[in-house]
Amino acid sequence: MNITKTKSERGLNMIKYDDKLKIFKLDTINTSYIFGLDDEAGYLCHYYYGKKLESVDVRYLSRLYDGKYLPGVNARDKNGFSDVAPFEFSTGGIGDFRPHALEIVDKNGSIACELFYDSHRIYEGKEALTGLPATFSNKKGDVQTLEITLKDKILKLAVKLSYSVFSDTDAIVRSVKVINEGSDSVNITKIMSLSLDLDNEDFDLLSLHGSWGRERTMEYRDLGHGFTGVSSQRGVSSHQEHPFIALTSKNITQTEGSVYAFNLVYSGSFEAVAHRNQFDLVRVLLGISPYNFKWELKPGDEFIAPEAVMVHSFKGLSAMTTAFHELYRNHLIRSPYLHKKRPVLINNWEGTYFDFDTEKLVNIAKEAAKGGIEMLVMDDGWFGNRFDDNRALGDWKVNEEKLPGGLKELVRRVNDLGLKFGIWMEPEMVNPDSDLYRAHPDWAFEIPGRDPSLSRNQLVLDITRQEVFDYVWNCVESTLKSANIEYLKWDMNRALCDIYSAGLPADRQGEIMHRYVLSVYKLQEKLITTFPEFLLENCSSGGGRFDPGMLYYSPQIWTSDNTDAGARLLIQEGTALIYPLSTMGAHVSVCPNHAMGRNTPFETRGNVALAGTFGYELDTTKFTDEEREMVKEQVKTYHKYNDLVREGDYYRLASLRENGVYDAWMVKSKDDKEILVTFVLANKVCNVKGRKIKLLGLNEAYKYVDEETKVVYGADVLSNAGILISDMWGDYQSKLIHLTKV
Ligand code: DGJ
Repeated sequence: MNITKTKSERGLNMIKYDDKLKIFKLDTINTSYIFGLDDEAGYLCHYYYGKKLESVDVRYLSRLYDGKYLPGVNARDKNGFSDVAPFEFSTGGIGDFRPHALEIVDKNGSIACELFYDSHRIYEGKEALTGLPATFSNKKGDVQTLEITLKDKILKLAVKLSYSVFSDTDAIVRSVKVINEGSDSVNITKIMSLSLDLDNEDFDLLSLHGSWGRERTMEYRDLGHGFTGVSSQRGVSSHQEHPFIALTSKNITQTEGSVYAFNLVYSGSFEAVAHRNQFDLVRVLLGISPYNFKWELKPGDEFIAPEAVMVHSFKGLSAMTTAFHELYRNHLIRSPYLHKKRPVLINNWEGTYFDFDTEKLVNIAKEAAKGGIEMLVMDDGWFGNRFDDNRALGDWKVNEEKLPGGLKELVRRVNDLGLKFGIWMEPEMVNPDSDLYRAHPDWAFEIPGRDPSLSRNQLVLDITRQEVFDYVWNCVESTLKSANIEYLKWDMNRALCDIYSAGLPADRQGEIMHRYVLSVYKLQEKLITTFPEFLLENCSSGGGRFDPGMLYYSPQIWTSDNTDAGARLLIQEGTALIYPLSTMGAHVSVCPNHAMGRNTPFETRGNVALAGTFGYELDTTKFTDEEREMVKEQVKTYHKYNDLVREGDYYRLASLRENGVYDAWMVKSKDDKEILVTFVLANKVCNVKGRKIKLLGLNEAYKYVDEETKVVYGADVLSNAGILISDMWGDYQSKLIHLTKV
């Protein structure tokens, strides 16, 4: 064994290695993650993940030391070991019959892989994952990384497991790199970024389930024996399931109960499963979906699996949420807009759909300017023959019938009104009815001889091919350079199927789904480096690709096409469970709402959208006088509270999903000086005498004054008895309560 002590191993102490016991201990602010080498063979085994410990020697927890299991003690029954050992990174074909993280097909066709410790290093900071989005260090001393190299001598394979611990969040991130050190190619047919063995604690599994228009709704289920989990095979992280699962204690609340949560920094097909075996041992796996995945690793090649995030809280969901929010705000989002107010925007999609021209847009902008709105975003329909959603994707030339004088003229007129200008594109797509498709029918994913499956009448461009990638990039770059454009909504409106690329041979078609995601990342990396001051908002038919991977490129993502304030309560609750409020695209739209047919008060639509990036999505020329005045107030309110909402600590106070009647959340500034509580009464109940809502996360020694009523409250009262919210008249009424420290 080749164990080296590095400088940072002695200096920083978030990650420690005990030489004698051969134990690695990762300490976050409140949690410890402990694993080590078994005494004899050099397997890497997991011992503990939970509340922070002082003790180091917890090897007995692995159950390997009562003499029965270690292969050296009981060689006639090594299987008894393999099927029980809490492997830190599980592999297939060696008698561990639980689902495993790594499957390698050797040149002889076998799939066995057995990993033993080789070496490790501990260093300050964190290396980037080439080609992939990943968390990063922000300042000296804020991150420490452990990299362990495991080897399979038969396969001549090195597997590097990296773990990073941050000084300012309870999250731990990990990733896996596989290197072929042999002289023959092997194939990776499954590689999970995370494998974690725990004991069942009567867990429930929490996931974020959804569909178009109702993304990321929290859902709990029992963790029975066998598999429980979620996945996407759509080539995107998807509306339907989310690359997030958590194991929670039963009836977990915001402040009580235990949770182990896992999120994948990836935007393509994924798998997230928890498997409970015969001994009630639970293995969590999270990574790229093995569906249609096969990656050839040539001699000397390496494959890097996406980063996975782990958070444990023993104080309920709220602490878990905080850990994710801190990680993503401090170590994942890179945009210069991260800590800035985003311009209040007016997007014309729900206002006009495809039916617009320069005059109409300028009139919308004129009205918007009167209310203090700061940017016009022109959505779908400005290019080619795009009068509906059947044609023209791929033909990124301005339609001068709609926009005479082109983008320059329109943008000039919008800028003259004092508004910035933003644009919509869907760069990854092509319609069969387009000049692009007519010129290059082979550029779209289609399987030779098979009719492709259309969705919204469109096909996906094979951007894994260099010439297609270059065409797409040129379209994006030349569009953005053609006028004073300051914002891009990058849309993606269908899932991937009919996967076949003319760019790779038959035996490597299993690489395409992942290569596609890498190409999206490459395009967006090029975009943000070419236009560093730009504001990018990702979108995928609403929130179909709302994940940490995309947040590495854009500070905000369109949360859902469902802009109904009522539906948004559930969508934003689930989204904010892990993602900061500053990332959620949220707009006020018209009623009856286009997705729900529901009427909600204009004021409530504003109050709900204030929890996100804030903007409007309607035809401003159709405002009533009253609405025109309300917009002015809402924009002022946005400016008043956005620093707090964007930078503060978010707490979920009540859930409409749970109680069926009302919803409430709060944001508290980091310096404790300010609190904003939002309360929405969704479904009126007759004859209720007001409701007490208890605030969270307060220092009980402080006092706060309610800005509106001037009543002074002790924070102890606000926390333990709550604030009283009087009953309201009608459904979907809402209220903002602003408290400042006395
Ligand atoms: C789907 C997006 O989610 C909408 O906001 C809008 O941009 C349409 N696409 C345009 O086609």
